[in-house]
Amino acid sequence: MSIFRTKNLDDMLAAGRAPGGLKKVLGPFDLILMGIGAIVGTGIFVLTGTGALTAGPALTISFIVAACACGFAALCYAEFASSVPVAGSIYTYSYATLGELVAWMIGWDLMLEYGLATSAVSVGWSGYFQSLLSGFGIALPSVLTAAPGAVPGVTTYFNLPALIIMLVLTAMLSWGVRESARVNNIMVAIKVGVVLLFIVVGARHVQPANWQPFMPFGVGGMMSAAALVFFAFIGFDAVTSAAEEVKRPERDLPIGIIGSLAACTVLYVLVSAIMTGIVPFQKFLGIDHPVSLALQYAGENWVAGFVDLGAILGMTTVILVMTYGQTRIIFAMSRDGLLPKKLSTVHPKYGTPFFATWVVGIAFGLIAALVPLNVLTELINIGTLAAFTLVSVAVVILRKKRPDLPRAFRCPGVPVIPALAVIFCVVLMTYLHWLTWVAFGIWLLIGLVVYFAYARHHSVLNQKG
Ligand code: ALA
Repeated sequence: MSIFRTKNLDDMLAAGRAPGGLKKVLGPFDLILMGIGAIVGTGIFVLTGTGALTAGPALTISFIVAACACGFAALCYAEFASSVPVAGSIYTYSYATLGELVAWMIGWDLMLEYGLATSAVSVGWSGYFQSLLSGFGIALPSVLTAAPGAVPGVTTYFNLPALIIMLVLTAMLSWGVRESARVNNIMVAIKVGVVLLFIVVGARHVQPANWQPFMPFGVGGMMSAAALVFFAFIGFDAVTSAAEEVKRPERDLPIGIIGSLAACTVLYVLVSAIMTGIVPFQKFLGIDHPVSLALQYAGENWVAGFVDLGAILGMTTVILVMTYGQTRIIFAMSRDGLLPKKLSTVHPKYGTPFFATWVVGIAFGLIAALVPLNVLTELINIGTLAAFTLVSVAVVILRKKRPDLPRAFRCPGVPVIPALAVIFCVVLMTYLHWLTWVAFGIWLLIGLVVYFAYARHHSVLNQKG
């Protein structure tokens, strides 16, 4: 059955090393910063408000639960990334193990994660940016401030800042990865600095009484918040999509994935504990800048301003890295013939997938400008949780199918750790809204149609017979 055909791993590894491919310029430090760049953003700066309302001070536990799901999956990702260091992340791994149809569906599913996340975070960026502008007395015409129907009672047509930030970052990425990594590193340093500033300044204003009752909405509230703030961890896997541009992928990819995830978990637990310790959680109702609100509440207005600026930079790096990840997945799918060939051409001068980068930037920029995306956070989460589940299953299959493959990093405790990853991810998925499940099902159905109508017939594997 051709839908179960798999790609030859050795051919894939050779394709990644072939001359004329992507430039190998990234080291382990770049990767950790790239991971943090993709991780710390809307989740911590915006969604923690809703998270605190859902879980109360137990939000810290919600972050730990979400981190466990990601951590177990990250160990599986790291093994894959170190044994199959080829562009395209989990899409590529599943092509080698689970067959073409599953790989295609995962690539399709990843568009919910990477692509829609860039749109959603651009919308968050736009909100913070406009509030910064209003501080200087500048206001955009209201019709250009948000997508149609995004703000009840206000006529809006187009979220112009969201589109502009997407296009600016697209231009940067299309010019060169080395340059983008450098800009990214600076912005990540500022973002982490601002989060640390919050922790140091905020810790002095904590009133332990605000942590009582600790779990006002029970385990259910805590788990629902975990399913929501899971969004805050999305992005560590983007590191794997850089595999072909890393100097020593076998060693550096696991360092990048696990290092960035561990660093962010520590930051998130501290930030959520301090936030809910400064402000009674009920005060976060309707607030889209909960972290700086906590500082304002404590009378630290100057620091709050810095936090807002850090949030803008933070979200910028998330968009940058997620756009990067999306282009590399499309690049890999196109190289395999499942998407049109033009999407895997490399620019002769810049050494980047120029065309694919612009297609991604324009498409998801327009989605950001035209679709109110707040409700789509859940859709992004379900898509990502599904992808993590599959990677955890696939790592076990690859051990059986190719025990001979060199694995610079081995996931410890197989099959217990992959099983725990599956359990955590599936349990979190059950806490998402049923409408999210319906929308997810529809998206997968469209993917199936495209596969049977186009991808299957154009697959490079057809030519090999
Ligand atoms: N983890 C990323 C964020 O929180 C997607 O913005």
